[in-house]
Amino acid sequence: GFSIRLMRSKRTLEVAPEETVLSVCLAAGIDLPYSCEEGVCGACEVRVLSGQIDHRDQVLSATARATADTMMACCSRGLTTLELDL
Ligand code: FES
Repeated sequence: GFSIRLMRSKRTLEVAPEETVLSVCLAAGIDLPYSCEEGVCGACEVRVLSGQIDHRDQVLSATARATADTMMACCSRGLTTLELDL
């Protein structure tokens, strides 16, 4: 698992292996948009302020993965603690 720090709501949450950033946020009452939950639609895009992302979606191009500071909360994970703009 890995931790996510929600910088705007000032909370730290733990994402267990069987959970996702999306499921943990929803369970904590943080309202995140989502649709497919399979990494294909892009609805759950979240801005990442720091940390290493393990991208598992099919939305972002290789270039976007290398340069953009976003992740798909429904499927992508953290290799380190992630600080999110939430
Ligand atoms: Fe569709 Fe995450 S909900 S990419």
